Amino acid sequence: MIIAIGADHGGFKLKEQIREHLAACGHEVTDCGTYDETSCHYPMYAEKVAAAVASGGAELGVLVCGTGIGMSMAANKVRGIRAAVVGDCFSAEATRRHNNANVICLGERVTGAGLALKIVDAFLAAEFEGARHQTRIDMISDIENRNL
Ligand code: RB5
Repeated sequence: MIIAIGADHGGFKLKEQIREHLAACGHEVTDCGTYDETSCHYPMYAEKVAAAVASGGAELGVLVCGTGIGMSMAANKVRGIRAAVVGDCFSAEATRRHNNANVICLGERVTGAGLALKIVDAFLAAEFEGARHQTRIDMISDIENRNL
């Protein structure tokens, strides 16, 4: 799977661990930065990853900041992106199965690296269930079309 990843300075270390983990699992990783711990602005990296996913260049995206929250807010401004902040494996699986989330956002200051890698694995392994959930995704798209 081609996976786009990105972080700000608050998520840099965890992003590096996720990149190594995904590569070790055989995924092709597009690293959209940041590339060191210098203070930077999370919306820049959220937009890069979101654009990669929205354009089809990557199938899924992973974003990391201090909390995951700012990244999700920014990524969800890109048409077609359904970004979810997740801190547990159940939610990671559910947001793929029910919400067809295509970007997962993690908080380095919230979630330890061991759990974060399990969360990413659960997210990647789950599949969208469609059916009644597609109706609701279509409703989200309608909101997007009326407001963006
Ligand atoms: C950076 O200090 C921090 O605000 C950022 O990483 C993120 O947590 C924002 O949501």
